[in-house]
Amino acid sequence: MTEAHSKWPRAGDGYEPLGTAEILGRNGATLRLKVGATTVEIAALAEDLFRVGAFPHGKSVEYDSEAVAKTAWDPIEVSVAEQAGNLSLSTSKATARISLNPLRIRFSDPSGRVFAADDERLGMGFAGRDEPAIGLCAPEAVVRVYKRRGRGERYFGCGERTGGLEKTGSRPLFWNIDPPAGHAPSFNNLYVSIPFVFSLQEGAAHGLLFDNTHRAVFDLARTNADLSCFEATGGNLIYYVFCGPTPRAVLARYTELTGRIPMPPLWALGNQQSRWSYRDEPHVRRVAREFRDRDIPCDVIHLDIDYMDGYRVFTWDRDRFPNPKTLISELRKDGFRVVAIVDPGVKVDEDYPVYTEGRDKDFYCQTFEGEEYRNTVWPGLCAFPDFTGRRVREWWGRHHAALLDAGVAGIWCDMNEPALGIPERATMPPDVVHPGDGKPRLHRQVHNLYGTLMARAAHEGIRRLRPQSRPFVLTRSGYAGVQRHALLWTGDNSSWWEHLAMALPQLQNLGLSGAAWAGVDIGGFYDDCNGELLARFTEFGVFQPFCRNHSAKGTIPQEPWAFGEPCQSVCRKMIQLRMRLIPYLYTLFEECHRTGAPILRPLLFEYPDDPTSDAMDDQFLLGSALLVAPVTRPGVEYRYVYLPAGTWFHYWTGERFDGPAHILAHAPLGQPALYVKANTPLPLGPSMSHTGERPIDPLTLLIYPAEGRGEFALYEDAGDGFGYRKGAYARRSISCETGDGVTIRLGAREGTFVPERREIRLELPGMPSIGGVKINGETFDRYRSDGDRLVLRLSEQAGAATVEVCFGSAG
Ligand code: GLC
Repeated sequence: MTEAHSKWPRAGDGYEPLGTAEILGRNGATLRLKVGATTVEIAALAEDLFRVGAFPHGKSVEYDSEAVAKTAWDPIEVSVAEQAGNLSLSTSKATARISLNPLRIRFSDPSGRVFAADDERLGMGFAGRDEPAIGLCAPEAVVRVYKRRGRGERYFGCGERTGGLEKTGSRPLFWNIDPPAGHAPSFNNLYVSIPFVFSLQEGAAHGLLFDNTHRAVFDLARTNADLSCFEATGGNLIYYVFCGPTPRAVLARYTELTGRIPMPPLWALGNQQSRWSYRDEPHVRRVAREFRDRDIPCDVIHLDIDYMDGYRVFTWDRDRFPNPKTLISELRKDGFRVVAIVDPGVKVDEDYPVYTEGRDKDFYCQTFEGEEYRNTVWPGLCAFPDFTGRRVREWWGRHHAALLDAGVAGIWCDMNEPALGIPERATMPPDVVHPGDGKPRLHRQVHNLYGTLMARAAHEGIRRLRPQSRPFVLTRSGYAGVQRHALLWTGDNSSWWEHLAMALPQLQNLGLSGAAWAGVDIGGFYDDCNGELLARFTEFGVFQPFCRNHSAKGTIPQEPWAFGEPCQSVCRKMIQLRMRLIPYLYTLFEECHRTGAPILRPLLFEYPDDPTSDAMDDQFLLGSALLVAPVTRPGVEYRYVYLPAGTWFHYWTGERFDGPAHILAHAPLGQPALYVKANTPLPLGPSMSHTGERPIDPLTLLIYPAEGRGEFALYEDAGDGFGYRKGAYARRSISCETGDGVTIRLGAREGTFVPERREIRLELPGMPSIGGVKINGETFDRYRSDGDRLVLRLSEQAGAATVEVCFGSAG
């Protein structure tokens, strides 16, 4: 036994790797094998996607999963070869090599890269019982697969986590909890479980989804530097390998399998404000008024639990909110939407129809003895809907009418780990029964799904109640695939500088785990914020896909004006910048919806070959055109920034930098280190107090020319509804090529949507001297030089246009 192996497996847990396999047969791209009483399947679902399933003890082959959105894959060409006890299953892009004695599987691609290779000695198999028998339910075996760490392999992703971006050397646990306040790097699990690891190996990427909703643990080269291990305390052993080799290809396939974020309503990109709680109608109106009076943009106000009658879900407290419909419609006239919180716990109360209806229909989770399972949350004693049942989800979805009829625009699902009060911060015991749709399961089998299924019920309910609108569902808890139902916020962070710093890797890993539409509470939830922290938090927060300031009961107020100047002006300026960035952000959302590319992304996503940026997590990219390097320490005005290959321009000063370069950026309050990639058109809208206040007219295309070429494909549509699925969108590619002069090409508009706009404004900084301008070959002299900024106004037209700018003699 080598030194590397001596630490595995854990002594005494009875792990037995699968032994010799027999071939049972092949069905298209699926090979079926048998190892004793275990059935094993290896399938190529797509050229760069394989699925492995092992079903012990004669269990039937079954891949049903809440993680998986796509089950029907188009047939692909595969070739199968058998030679000297080895099998291979090849597509045009990758090969699964299977040795039969003993059964071991590894993957490779035509470049010779080997990845996700079973450890020769340990392979995959089953261990002794971690979970006891419950009643007649047999104890389940631990399922486990050991993979060799590839050459130079580094691990990322794994969903919502504390700590840094890189997860090599860690042992992440996948078990949803409501963690204690003060999330620290040592916390091994939070509210969300996404058992997906994104690997980078000498510039090439691959991914592995371990699809198991039991308590799962990965060991990512922690116990043994050459091995990783993926295990769960029960269920079948099912995993998917995404072959890449680019980060984009991994995310595209991962999100094709598990689903992509829905198109957001445009307003969801606006600034959002929350507090536990804006407790009554006058308070809500006052907050809304402050935003408008102070000229700080805001689209959404969140109502936390105090809007309810005694915390009974789907009710209103009529003393504090006597007429929600009027309130919400008046706010709406002023450009605000309202999002309301919903918790899963239903107050046990004989006079509360939601409770009695659920009880009469047997919709709640049960104790093992068949009683209604109860525990405490905000309202006191509660029962908990069993969201694994389709009828329960439909019923729950229908109840959202109580909120939607009042005009509520979006739903915020909270406490859905589920988080329970007895004992404090508990979740359900493992033996609670989810009756399901006639297929009862124990809580320990489905625990990690509770949040996803509650969000799904809300999402589907809203779709039925408001078929013309795009649902906005925010959730705290979820499992892999949750992104197709809801966006995430990262729960109860604290008003600490450390949590501002932690937010950066946290969101980057969520982006690498398919859950790109996410955000942290700006300013921090627990503890008291202060002006400098809020200003710096907001400088970062406006670049999050979900931009919301939220804080806990008992903390000092934290609205953008709460700390006076200079914090208020910094917040205003940054939120105004977010509003101007909406055309860019919306395009990134659509890209994410269509391809899975994260909106807020780590540098490694765009520069996987650059080892300097691999683990860098104190800066990030928004799309590919903006690099953001927030200040995350008090009293600091300068920070180190790494600019990867290419030419970058400082957003505030226009200063040019040629990457790769390490620079010291001056980032005083209100001027966070922000860089724009040369030649990549950055679409900016006008200033607005809220989305939809006015058309995006003019649309500014900010372009910093430097030798080379860049491109951006702007996406627009109605901002809500589903017309885009029938072609009612506008996509337009805009490129900029700089050599002897600057040539900007606006492609013809694709799609039938016609933006309400008269003018496109090209703004080119760093152009001190202009020799002349031609549009479609014709001389154009209505340009303006504003200092060294060239400004050209074009009318919005559907057709293509070419703009050529000649440098002047000084240029
Ligand atoms: C939970 C949520 C928090 C919310 C509070 C009261 O702690 O995470 O966002 O404000 O409950 O509903």
